Amino acid sequence: MKKFRVGVVGLGHRGRLMFALAADSFDSVIPAAACDLFERNFYEKQWLMDDAMCNLYPETVFYKDYDEMLEKADLDVVIVETGADVHCDFCIKALEKNINVLTDIPVVANLSEAERIWKAAEKSEAMISVGANPNEQKFAVMLQEFFESGKLGKPYCMEAEYIHWSMPNSEGHKALTENGDWRKLLSPIRYCTHSLGPLLTVVDEELRYVSAFGTGPHADDYDGNKKDDMVCANFKTESGVVIRLMRNGRCRADIGHHNYRVFGTEGYMERIDRFGKPVIRYNSMKDENNKLQEITGEFTPPAYKDNPKAKGHDGIDFAMQDHFFKALSAGGVAPISLKAGLEMTLPGIFAEESAKRGGEVIRMVYPWEEDWSTEIK
Ligand SMILES: NC(=O)c1ccc[n+]([C@@H]2O[C@H](COP(=O)([O-])OP(=O)(O)OC[C@H]3O[C@@H](n4cnc5c(N)ncnc54)[C@H](O)[C@@H]3O)[C@@H](O)[C@H]2O)c1
Repeated sequence: MKKFRVGVVGLGHRGRLMFALAADSFDSVIPAAACDLFERNFYEKQWLMDDAMCNLYPETVFYKDYDEMLEKADLDVVIVETGADVHCDFCIKALEKNINVLTDIPVVANLSEAERIWKAAEKSEAMISVGANPNEQKFAVMLQEFFESGKLGKPYCMEAEYIHWSMPNSEGHKALTENGDWRKLLSPIRYCTHSLGPLLTVVDEELRYVSAFGTGPHADDYDGNKKDDMVCANFKTESGVVIRLMRNGRCRADIGHHNYRVFGTEGYMERIDRFGKPVIRYNSMKDENNKLQEITGEFTPPAYKDNPKAKGHDGIDFAMQDHFFKALSAGGVAPISLKAGLEMTLPGIFAEESAKRGGEVIRMVYPWEEDWSTEIK
């Protein structure tokens, strides 16, 4: 079996779990190296870990400096888990050394980064795959099957929301913000990837136009946080597919859910999460019985439901890594391509700008298009 020397950069909550999942679940993985600005994240026990990483993975070499890790650790794979607005340069540096990359989302923070990473990936012999784990969830798998069977028809209108609690002073909030401030500072709509990712798998054209409004901060802020409490964006393709999206900053509702509704010319599918009891509902004019069907809406992808290794967000993290390492072994194509990653990331950057301009409709372009520009017109 081909073995992969794997390193991770970013040992916040997510990076620690992603590294542990890879190291513990895949015989092909050698947990070679880990990198973070804070030594404590490797040498001391952290939130939700059973022990310090240095004890759990004694063969793993810790680096404080990313360049040094790339230089010395002889890696086949880098997992990029730095804050949500600082992924791009870590990916590019690995690609330039022909080291394969699994990067978390959103992929880039601005249009210049989009251009640079697109060019770096074109030049590199290595594979870059995007860690869009919501694309692995049961709803996303079912939606693609529904679409490919013709039962959905052409999707023409969709809706999504990703609402996540933010409770200052809670244990979770403190743990999630102690290593970086992207959760406090990033415009909520920039984190649109979990919502757009699954929907875009059944749309065969780019999102082209956006108009967004932000609420601004409505209550006493905390930690100097001045960002929107909520952003609402409407996206549209050239042929008239519309997606309506809601994303929160401040949220005192004790919920953390992903909802989706997809209206097609032949059918309908939704995932609605209410108080931890998600359901998927669907119906199609192509079925004899076209009454609404309801099944449970857990994340676990159907193909992994009986796999005891399927962990991390109910198995979607495992499914994502499984697809990644299988693709790498086969020398094949990235399970979730950089193009798909940019298609779900760039609309958030354009939407943030639209909200700043009071909802102005902005035309969105992508690095592979002729009229691409790093300036937002
Ligand atoms: N897909 C999911 O389900 C999911 C869930 C949570 C977070 N995430 C993503 O995971 C990523 C990490 O999230 P987090 O909450 O763990 O972030 P975090 O800010 O808590 O941790 C990021 C870590 O990166 C380190 N870092 C930053 N710059 C560095 C550098 N130059 N060299 C070495 N280390 C550096 C920081 O020290 C920090 O420990 C984000 O991109 C986020 O979007 C994804």
